[in-house]
Amino acid sequence: MSRYAEVYDTWKKNPESFWAEAARDVSWYKLWDKVLDPYAGQYGRWFVGAECNTAYNCLDRHVEAGHGARTALIYDSPVTGTKQSYTYAQLTEEVAALSAVLLDVGVRKGDRVIVYMPMIAEAVMAMLACARIGAVHSVVFGGFASAELATRINDAKPVAILTASCGIETARVIPYKPLLDKAIELSEHKPSACLVLQRPQVAANLINGRDHDWGASVSAAKAAGRKAGCAAVAATDPLYILYTSGTTGQPKGVLRDNGGHMVALKWTMKNFYDIAPGEVFWAASDVGWVVGHSYICYAPLLHGATTLVYEGKPVGTPDAGAFWRVISEHKVVALFTAPTAFRAIKKEDPSGDLIKNYDLTKLRTLFLAGERADPETIKWAEAKLNVPVIDHWWQTETGWAIAGNPVGLGKMPVKYGSPTVPMPGFDLQVLDEKHQPVGPNQNGTLAIKLPLPPGCLPTLWGNDERFRNSYLADFPGYYSTSDAGYRDEDGYVYVMARTDDVINVAGHRLSTGQMEEVVAQHKDIAECAVIGVHDDMKGQLPAGFVVLNAGVARDAKDIEAEVVKLVRDVIGPVAAFKNVMVVKRLPKTRSGKILRGTMRQIADGESWKMPATIDDPAILDEIGEVLKSRGMAHAPAKSA
Ligand code: COA
Ligand code: AMP
Repeated sequence: MSRYAEVYDTWKKNPESFWAEAARDVSWYKLWDKVLDPYAGQYGRWFVGAECNTAYNCLDRHVEAGHGARTALIYDSPVTGTKQSYTYAQLTEEVAALSAVLLDVGVRKGDRVIVYMPMIAEAVMAMLACARIGAVHSVVFGGFASAELATRINDAKPVAILTASCGIETARVIPYKPLLDKAIELSEHKPSACLVLQRPQVAANLINGRDHDWGASVSAAKAAGRKAGCAAVAATDPLYILYTSGTTGQPKGVLRDNGGHMVALKWTMKNFYDIAPGEVFWAASDVGWVVGHSYICYAPLLHGATTLVYEGKPVGTPDAGAFWRVISEHKVVALFTAPTAFRAIKKEDPSGDLIKNYDLTKLRTLFLAGERADPETIKWAEAKLNVPVIDHWWQTETGWAIAGNPVGLGKMPVKYGSPTVPMPGFDLQVLDEKHQPVGPNQNGTLAIKLPLPPGCLPTLWGNDERFRNSYLADFPGYYSTSDAGYRDEDGYVYVMARTDDVINVAGHRLSTGQMEEVVAQHKDIAECAVIGVHDDMKGQLPAGFVVLNAGVARDAKDIEAEVVKLVRDVIGPVAAFKNVMVVKRLPKTRSGKILRGTMRQIADGESWKMPATIDDPAILDEIGEVLKSRGMAHAPAKSA
């Protein structure tokens, strides 16, 4: 029997006492004056008046409790053939020395630090070193290009940037330093220092006076016995900024605080993921995404568990058995990844033969998130791994699961296609256009009644107004998730689609609006539309439709290739923008709005209705023809 209903009810009856109780699992320098101050911030603030340090709770606290010899972090890198473990005592040493170096290069409490790093142990050390001295990190995913990095530098205004000489994508070595130098050149704000970790694969050029050698600086600090202490910060002070895609080219700087974040994440480790301190928890994501922040770095360490930093892919490093090797070798009890990773494995090894080569007896649960978990993938994983497969739904903004199946409270029956039920803290409603809750099995916007629970974003970095407009304005009294869906008669949640321009490509959140802004920069393009079309492996893929300026007589193929390159250069390879089609015109309403929704339905082979307000119905047939000629229409498109 699951204790979920009882625990959810306890929270609902008294949210403040529920979170105050959970907060006992965290170590505080000073307790709070108020668990929740409903008048502070944009919708209230948690643990107001309290003081704490997140890195202390992740590291020193465990060492002081006598667990210094326990493994804190395992780095496993098939792309470099490296495996290395750090105990809690060793990781604390490393982080304390790196913090001292940060202080040396001028970083102070409240300053921002950008972290642009591959999946290596030092990326986690960088995050924790910032947290230790009360600096605010902003990790930028390695697959973003210089211009994207520059946008974040301009917005966060970092004092320092931490990077490595390269990242490794399967067999491709990507020098990071030239990308970083170009980003700094492009940005108006200039950091005063860069700390560069030289990896053996590539030596980065260091600029005199600005760049410092990471290894040499940390070694010198260690040799001199220099360690930074843990700074006391307000529970409401920012821990990090994580930029995520919105509807425009300007990404949203999701802000996370210290106190509420620790309380919520710590609670999830036992109650949601069913992990005990000392067990190995593996989130096969990237530190550049929210899953990496919450479940590679912070939550496992807050809980005294062992986290795993994996520098590799589910396939190709070297084969589709990579995940099974890591699980068996490191005795992983829970794996957390995106469904797309499993689709990639299934494609290479459909019968799961490689699984048989490894001992997976320690694995208890597979957790999936980042995109809708399609029932086929869940069933395949269940059959091949013989463990419960748990879908859960969350967003960069919330930092932890809005809805899921809380294994730690006792697993509930799985309904395929549903991430199960809302977690304590989330009063989830399905609202119609008039802001009213709808009944079971009726579609609407999934909205969370304010206040959001601890751990969720209190606002956007430096932009309260954008926070209110993006999340609070549409449904007064609620946070709008921008996801549409429904709840069934048992209260199970179904998340069906985004209501904005955000698409999900291989578990990566991207903005079609942003891609349109970039495509429109091409000199020969008059107008364009980018939509997300269904892809069996990656979930969705962006597809661009472009109309050329009058009189452009160049070969369409050349222009299409230039547009692909432009998006890759400006946003980065992660955009996976490879499909561009020159079309004569775009379908529009009589008032000039591009009918992106209908175009997507045609591409996905869904039945669609001719919009009553369409300007010229023939254009939709033209779009269908172009898609068919590129093999991109999933089924014959026809209007209903
Ligand atoms: N640095 C530089 N480039 C990167 C990168 C990084 N950190 N991450 C991805 N890229 C590049 C890829 O090499 C690829 O380049 P290419 O166009 O030259 O081939 C491009 O960006 C697109 O990457 P992706 O969409 O990830 O495709 P892929 O074929 O490399 O990998 C998967 C497909 C499914 C294996 C991979 O996307 C995956 O493991 N996804 C899981 C995502 C995830 O964990 N999300 C977090 C939520 S849990
Ligand atoms: P991100 O901010 O990158 O975590 O992306 C958040 C978005 O991914 C959500 O708003 C959803 O659209 C989608 N998403 C994440 N997890 C799930 C899930 N389990 N089921 C359905 N959609 C999901």
